[in-house]
Amino acid sequence: MKKVIALLPGDGIGREVTAQGKRVLEEVAKVFGHSFEFPEGIIGHEAIEKTGNALPDETLTLLRSSEAILFGAVGHPKYDNDPSLPVRPEQGLLKMRKELGLYANLRPIRLFDELLGASSIKPEILRGADILFFRELTGDVYFGEKGKKNEGKTAYDVMIYHEYEVERIAHKAFQAARARKMKVTSVDKANVLESSRLWRRVIQEVGKQYPDVTLEHEFVDAMAMKLIQQPRRFDVVVTGNLFGDILTDEASQIAGSMGMLASASVGDTVGLYEPIHGSAHDITGKGIANPLASILSAALMLEISFGWKEEAEAVVKAVKQVLASGYRTADIADSDTPKEMILNTQAMGDCVVAQLARKPIAVIQ
Ligand code: IPM
Ligand code: MN
Repeated sequence: MKKVIALLPGDGIGREVTAQGKRVLEEVAKVFGHSFEFPEGIIGHEAIEKTGNALPDETLTLLRSSEAILFGAVGHPKYDNDPSLPVRPEQGLLKMRKELGLYANLRPIRLFDELLGASSIKPEILRGADILFFRELTGDVYFGEKGKKNEGKTAYDVMIYHEYEVERIAHKAFQAARARKMKVTSVDKANVLESSRLWRRVIQEVGKQYPDVTLEHEFVDAMAMKLIQQPRRFDVVVTGNLFGDILTDEASQIAGSMGMLASASVGDTVGLYEPIHGSAHDITGKGIANPLASILSAALMLEISFGWKEEAEAVVKAVKQVLASGYRTADIADSDTPKEMILNTQAMGDCVVAQLARKPIAVIQ
């Protein structure tokens, strides 16, 4: 049966890495006898330039009629340099999350043993770390009331959570813990914030329905420290939108590089799969971006949206074998990596595709 996967390459390196994620999906289709269709939509800076809107209705309609979405990144330096611009690429991503009800953002922090040396954290601290973050994605300060007053001299963004928003992500986190190491760490700032006290109360209530799962609470400031001090202590981590955004960038260092971190956003409807990294305009067009986060996001899609565990595992295994053969992109290379083993984006995609097809890896750069 044909599955419709919407492609949203977006801006910057989004386009370069999504092309490789798509190739890997095409190879999976070939090897396992599936069939995919890849209609493409526009979002972000590209969409603003063409339509004045960061997420045009046409794109939203396409997404609603798809079975999964592979997204790249949005952003452009023009907007970072001018905070007064009213229409911004990031609005497209936020609107997409909200409109599609994608309230749970899964960010697995998995360290491939081959990359132990790529992180700035000591290998003995890192070895064996395996964390699954659940970042709440459609609430918090991101979507609370915002505005300016006092002739623009004052600005505010309200941090707000409703019980039902905490409940539904809590259930997802506890259920995931049951299939892992039976432990949930909830992160908040309940010593200061009212919305965090609501968060903590609801997590505790939901936790009672999972008496077999150990629940602990951490304040976000302490968590920022413990995450890199003792990453192996954590199994499932559940937290709000803003804290989750910040902590998962930090946690990417456990996996060696932002270029390795995939994510899945799920909720009421279609699933969205994307690298956690941004559009990285500093390296756009150079062809050196690491496509593995997009490729691993495609693996999450196969598992979560389509329920194809074997196919997902084949992709992860192919990535592992490519790394075990010594191939790296620049962001995950270290001082011992021979120059000829540092691949560009396309060549890294070639390697993973060849591995999936079980062909010997021949790199032509
Ligand atoms: C992410 C990004 C986004 C976020 C931006 C681009 C709006 O940083 O997906 O982590 O803050 O959620
Ligand atoms: Mn982020």
